[in-house]
Amino acid sequence: MILSCTVNKKPVRLECEPGEALADVLRAAGYKEVKKACGTGNCGLCTILLDEVPVASCSIFAARAEGRAITTIQGLKKEAEELGAYIAAEGAEQCGYCSPGFVLTALAMEREFRAQGMGRFDELAARHYLAGNLCRCSGYQGHMRALKKYWEARNG
Ligand code: FES
Ligand code: FES
Repeated sequence: MILSCTVNKKPVRLECEPGEALADVLRAAGYKEVKKACGTGNCGLCTILLDEVPVASCSIFAARAEGRAITTIQGLKKEAEELGAYIAAEGAEQCGYCSPGFVLTALAMEREFRAQGMGRFDELAARHYLAGNLCRCSGYQGHMRALKKYWEARNG
């Protein structure tokens, strides 16, 4: 079957099988920036934005994306680099596996919190929002410092 949607604002038609996971379809189509590890919705590596909402693309049928807007990390390159600089400044750079999903989720979080009118950065809410994006190598302290500074730079 053919899936019609947009990827990073470009209309595309992607071949997929019924029951095939969106992560597999995207990777087969060349969107290798979408990573995949657990394949069970537990690590967050495969996160994409579907209509601006973070989802684990390994755990959603590709057919569910029909007519919808998919964003990968490549679609938010400028914002990702900006946030990445804050993360690096706190010594919390991540590997190429967990970074794309973490950064995409963090960017969606910032937008969502701002839309909700959040004033000061709420670390507890951030930890909750990002709980599905695992890194095996850190205690997330550097990430939280970076996210707080990023938030304050953008939201005063
Ligand atoms: S690969 Fe999708 S959540 Fe782990
Ligand atoms: S830095 Fe990628 S899993 Fe920890």
